[in-house]
Amino acid sequence: MTTYLTPTAETQNVRTSAIKLHGPEGFAGMRKAGRLAAEILDAIVPLVVPGAKTSDIDDFIRQMMLDAGAVPATLGYHGYAYSCCISLNNVICHGMPGDKPLKDGDIVNIDVTPLVDGWHGDTSRMYLVGDVPVKARRLVDVTYDCLMLGIEQAKPGNHLGDIGHAIQSYAERHRYGVVRDFCGHGLGRVFHDAPEVIHVGRPGTGPELRPGMIFTIEPMINAGKPTVKMLEDGWTAVTRDRSLSAQFEHSIGITEDGCEIFTLSPKGLHRPPY
Ligand code: MF3
Ligand code: CO
Ligand code: CO
Repeated sequence: MTTYLTPTAETQNVRTSAIKLHGPEGFAGMRKAGRLAAEILDAIVPLVVPGAKTSDIDDFIRQMMLDAGAVPATLGYHGYAYSCCISLNNVICHGMPGDKPLKDGDIVNIDVTPLVDGWHGDTSRMYLVGDVPVKARRLVDVTYDCLMLGIEQAKPGNHLGDIGHAIQSYAERHRYGVVRDFCGHGLGRVFHDAPEVIHVGRPGTGPELRPGMIFTIEPMINAGKPTVKMLEDGWTAVTRDRSLSAQFEHSIGITEDGCEIFTLSPKGLHRPPY
């Protein structure tokens, strides 16, 4: 059974199993946080080039958040020590920035979550490093289309299963695997809140979507099988079969007649090449 709740001063900062239905202040807070998140993903485009160290990109992202009066929500989150996640090639998600330089032909997901006035703007995009083979570019394109097909289903009266179904059927039509081990999530003043937004599903199943719900959709699509392997560091998730993986993420809010995307690129840099 799904329960819904109107957040109050007591509950707004607490992760609950009930799905929060946010009001105008929540949408205003998310608009501001989402905009900064998207501006950061716009601003790093010139930094994502062959030879760049991903730790330098992390430093830039942290500084841009601090300059805007925001805080990286990931820094110190369950012990995570970085201001973004940078997931290269066969890394599915939660890749950690480091000294290893980007190489020509890499595909990379960069995921940022600034905390602005207490609200979380969570978004990620894929970047192409130099000349990327057509097979990898095709995975990136299909993954972007998966996200947007999911978002098309995000409207009152539909169910979470409609979103999962749209993503899964499109990905599998291209013989790609949809990762099951990580999902989208409610967010707001809480980083990872109910509901879990699973990127597979059957139409009409799962919680009904209602105006005021705020959540991410962030499909992880593998060129091969959907199975995940965790590295020893406890964070980095890679494809078990070493196939390439791609991901895009938006934060959205359900409105009376559809949804609002809080993390749209102000510069129109929606999908690569940028
Ligand atoms: N931004 C990621 C998400 O989309 C969460 C990263 S948590 C971290 O939910 F600790 F790994 F950074
Ligand atoms: Co997220
Ligand atoms: Co994210």
